[in-house]
Amino acid sequence: MSSKFKNAKRIEGLDSNVWIEFTKLAADPSVVNLGQGLPDVSPPIYVKEKLSKIAAVDGLNQYTRGFGHPSLVKALSCLYEKFYHHQINPNKEILVTVGAYGSLFNAIQGLIDEGDEVIIIVPFYDCYEPMLRMVRATPVYIPLRSKPVDGRKWSSSDWTLDPQELASKFNSRTKAIILNTPHNPMGKVYTKEELQVIADLCIKYDTLCISDEVYEWLVYPGKKHLKIATFPGMWERTVTIGSGGKTYSVTGWKLGWSIGPNHLIKHLQTVQQNSVYTCATPLQEALAQAFWIDIKRMDDPQCYFNSLPRELEVKRDRMVHLLESVGLKPIVPDGGYFIIADVSSLDPRKKREAHLAGPTGHREPSWIHTLNQQRRTRERENADLSDMESNEPYDFKFVRWMTKNKKLSAIPVSAFCNSETKLQFEKFVRFCFIKKDSTLDAAEEIIKAWNKQKS
Ligand SMILES: Cc1ncc(COP(=O)(O)O)c(C=O)c1O
Repeated sequence: MSSKFKNAKRIEGLDSNVWIEFTKLAADPSVVNLGQGLPDVSPPIYVKEKLSKIAAVDGLNQYTRGFGHPSLVKALSCLYEKFYHHQINPNKEILVTVGAYGSLFNAIQGLIDEGDEVIIIVPFYDCYEPMLRMVRATPVYIPLRSKPVDGRKWSSSDWTLDPQELASKFNSRTKAIILNTPHNPMGKVYTKEELQVIADLCIKYDTLCISDEVYEWLVYPGKKHLKIATFPGMWERTVTIGSGGKTYSVTGWKLGWSIGPNHLIKHLQTVQQNSVYTCATPLQEALAQAFWIDIKRMDDPQCYFNSLPRELEVKRDRMVHLLESVGLKPIVPDGGYFIIADVSSLDPRKKREAHLAGPTGHREPSWIHTLNQQRRTRERENADLSDMESNEPYDFKFVRWMTKNKKLSAIPVSAFCNSETKLQFEKFVRFCFIKKDSTLDAAEEIIKAWNKQKS
């Protein structure tokens, strides 16, 4: 093959992606999909209605302003001024992008250079690392670590950064830290004290902060989402990223935004104008109109920013209960719509070993022993354990096996880790719970039947 057909060096080794493989596996209609963060609940009716009406307006089906449709950037500035407690210039301090992905890409392309160090907290939303590699920056990893939780429920707030370890990752080459709160996949919502530690280090080492806050509205009682950009000295060095898909459960719309000071946002705008140029006009107009409805009723329980977390809290608690009922110890998320659990006790190879070992503690007559051995051999041959035999991390093998054999999909948590920390998280898988009750019923049936077979 011609050497000219080879990939550009900057994408070398970035071809595999967890979503491509596991979304394809979960596409089998017989599979109950708790994998990708894809809501199967209905988006708010007014959001859908706005879009269908807008599609009938000729002018709104053409290109719009490249850095964000005027009515959307206006709505975003009006919404977020309430949280930042200062005015946000809709044209200079906001950029509308193709999903939060687009904002991450623009921020990394526009602000990070070859050789820059960027701190990433593990586990991390998986695209951070390849995006940094594409600009030839050096990711510097720091894992969240859990405290012991004897007897009580395990919470996402038990997972914290060690402040000294974090400080040791900063140096004069550190260009930025990528923060994600509420966190995917752990559901951690960073506290004021935790954010202050990060802010102090950013200021001390004069670094930027890219704050991915796509789940900002999805926080459960007892916790509050805080924006690091509102901490003293942080606005000028922070790009805050949001997602229309996550805000209104319309992930297929792929609209996101970056908010920050003009001296940073202008560089993201440069990337956008030389790449996708502009985002879909009808979607931006519909999102703007939806925002105006909710901006006017922020304190009302009907406001979607308040009603969605209420609805999801019930689903979260249902998932916690279900996972606990089969002997798992889930990490109860304080935010977002994912729950992770250690699934090492469900390793299908353990069942095979138990079968092969045969009954213990009593002697069986030799003819029964022979029959049992024959049965076990048949069962072993039938059980499809080939997926469990590769050298990949346990969670990848397990999710592949579970999706094919139990018809339930999830996402392996080690997909959110760098190679050195995969082992630390490979016992965990992530389940998404922004699902209709009927989907959760189907998942419950599978998990309960599986548990019965086990015992
Ligand atoms: C933490 C995080 N950041 C960014 C994104 C991408 O969001 P969008 O669909 O708006 O591009 C996701 C999507 O799941 C996410 O979980």
